[in-house]
Amino acid sequence: MSGIRTIVAGVGAYLPERIVTNAEMAKLVDTSDDWIVERTGITQRHIAADGEYTSDLAIAAGRRAIADAGIDASEVDMIIVATATPDETFPATAVKVQAGLGITKGAAFDIQAVCSGFVYGLSVADNLIRGGMSKTLLLIGAETFSRILDWEDRTTCVLFGDGAGAVVLKGEQGPGNRGIIASKLRSDGTKHDLLYVDGGPSTTQTTGKLRMRGKDVFKHAVNNLSDIVQEVFDGTDLSPSDIDWIVPHQANRRILDATAKKLGVDPAKVVVTVQDHGNTSAASVPLALERAVRDGRIKRGDLVLLEAMGGGFTWGASLVRW
Ligand code: UT7
Repeated sequence: MSGIRTIVAGVGAYLPERIVTNAEMAKLVDTSDDWIVERTGITQRHIAADGEYTSDLAIAAGRRAIADAGIDASEVDMIIVATATPDETFPATAVKVQAGLGITKGAAFDIQAVCSGFVYGLSVADNLIRGGMSKTLLLIGAETFSRILDWEDRTTCVLFGDGAGAVVLKGEQGPGNRGIIASKLRSDGTKHDLLYVDGGPSTTQTTGKLRMRGKDVFKHAVNNLSDIVQEVFDGTDLSPSDIDWIVPHQANRRILDATAKKLGVDPAKVVVTVQDHGNTSAASVPLALERAVRDGRIKRGDLVLLEAMGGGFTWGASLVRW
């Protein structure tokens, strides 16, 4: 290839102000704090305010990532927003983000791979940068899943929340080994009925609500994630025992524990933030990443594994030398 490596130059996150606790959820549906914590690890979720859109969350997280990278917004030449809850059917939310950040050059587009969206975006971004199409790319995972939940279905509404996380990615050349080492993406459309939204412009002309067969998704998640993590090491001289930090999609504490166990990775190396914001779909990996970078756990030189799985099914993993 070109000798260009894609490095993470900055991270940012944004969670809406309003927090809804498990106790509040128990007033809406027949559930309890005990059940939610025991089955998922979630204690609260953030919910976007009326009139606060996915693009607003994305812009807030994007601004913070740009500031963290120490660059000016005008240096960004490409914006990718991973979302399954766009502001509108079209145009892409990324284009609203571009305008909101005052950027008038380059290109902006969305990626739709539900909870795997950020990991998909990272792989696309890496190829755009190494191929010379972009020098400074803003990748954002942003969601307002509260808007597609069936608030009468206790099996799903307790699990999800709203939020956004972002990274600034830059091409770097020369000595050093920082950057994205490898990525793997997978999908399996035959599993559509296990996790989907029952509406859309071409089918019902409505937005629809999220439907999930949780137990089935759980089983596939643990197997698919441990398989893809093994695969992402193929062709590298590294192995899962070299991982310093796993930054997984935050869907369920038990999935994180079971996947770490299957891979033989110490659970203490898994970044867990699901307790604080529930499943925020494409936003969850960058939200967890931002937390672990900010609190000093992830340090220069660490080997970081990002992984996610979601509706489609889609799943993927990326290996990054920080
Ligand atoms: O982001 C994409 C990936 N998504 C996921 O990874 C989600 C994967 N799935 C899961 O996280 C878990 O399967 C759930 C958290 C969704 C459910 O946990 P589970 O241990 O698989 O529970 P279950 O579905 O087997 O339900 C056990 C019981 C049922 O009652 P019965 O049939 O045993 O009487 C449910 O009706 O728990 C009941 N239940 C609830 N009870 C209280 C289901 N939801 C609730 C609830 N509160 N919110």
